[in-house]
Amino acid sequence: MQEAAIIKFRINGKEYSLEQSMNIHDFLSRIGIVIPKACHVAGKTNGGRCKVCLVEINDELATSCNNDIKNDMDILTHSHKAIEARAWAINFLISHHPALCHSCHKMGDCRLAEAFMISGKKIEKCFKPSGTHTDIKQISSDIQLDYSKCIYCGQCDDITTINHQTVESCPTGALEKVNGDE
Ligand code: SF4
Ligand code: FES
Repeated sequence: MQEAAIIKFRINGKEYSLEQSMNIHDFLSRIGIVIPKACHVAGKTNGGRCKVCLVEINDELATSCNNDIKNDMDILTHSHKAIEARAWAINFLISHHPALCHSCHKMGDCRLAEAFMISGKKIEKCFKPSGTHTDIKQISSDIQLDYSKCIYCGQCDDITTINHQTVESCPTGALEKVNGDE
């Protein structure tokens, strides 16, 4: 009987093997390596947009949230290049962010804030929050979208499809139920 090919790969110089491939970010979490992840929304978007989960794979930057492990991959999670790239991505996302987290309905459950905290001091140095909500759009009678908090996860590419479920699954506080029955 033919044996299944074992997938062998390295993470930060350490050898690993798997009988079946799996998502890189999920495997990193399994072995206790914490990398931010923000735009992937289970059952809704496949990620790959916000770039806060970048790692280095065989000397190239790649998103870990939407790529599977392949044989002979050499993954570096905390190389200078990977750390800088993640910091750049988070800086980009917060460059137009109001940073008024204390008054945000998503406080304590925001993927962008989580990414910011995981990524540490490097980002704080260049963090210049706008301090204002610059671009708010009323989507329907009881839903509003604050673009200054959006991380472009892809759920709102078509704003006509935004409903209460989308509000619940927005990774940040960008979508909010207003004048509702909460
Ligand atoms: S507003 Fe829409 S596109 Fe922006 S982060 Fe929320 S769900 Fe994603
Ligand atoms: S979490 Fe991977 S690109 Fe957004």
